[in-house]
Amino acid sequence: MQFYNILRSAHSGWRYLVLIFLVLAIVQALAGWLGKKPYTEGNRKLNLFALIFTHVQILFGLVLYFISPLVEAGLRYWKMEHIGMMIFAAILVTVGNARSKRTDDAATKHRTIALYFGLALILIVAAIIAMVKFDPTRTFWGVS
Ligand code: HEM
Repeated sequence: MQFYNILRSAHSGWRYLVLIFLVLAIVQALAGWLGKKPYTEGNRKLNLFALIFTHVQILFGLVLYFISPLVEAGLRYWKMEHIGMMIFAAILVTVGNARSKRTDDAATKHRTIALYFGLALILIVAAIIAMVKFDPTRTFWGVS
């Protein structure tokens, strides 16, 4: 199925954008929090990009969920764990970004992003490691 293959590759490759932008946002938030820096427009934009890339990945994943033969086959990791962990991670990113806007204090904004995005990143990395354990034909970095 052509559409399935395209979407699968898009979802597979998109992981890099999600991981890279989350890491950048976390590094920036930690530097801002610990270095007592102001919360700039650049900070806000990078956090927003990390949020958007994560949401787009969830959309790709949701469509895949309904057409992937792996989910149809009822494979536990794909049916339950992948979707559960990834959606929870996306909720953390969404809530973290929203909460960072509710305060005017720069340190609190940076800390909120660092904590929520950090937890989300740990969850995503754990989910990908679990994927490789479940299906050793896949690798952490390799696009299938
Ligand atoms: C931040 C969120 C997500 C990340 C980083 C992510 C990452 C990945 C990765 C790395 C793969 C393996 C690709 C490969 O081996 O080439 C994959 C496969 C898959 N993902 Fe996600 N995913 C995310 C969210 C989701 C969500 C929310 C769903 C379902 C609603 C989903 C459904 C799937 C399915 C069904 C596959 C298997 C596709 C196939 O080979 O048939 N993903 N994902």
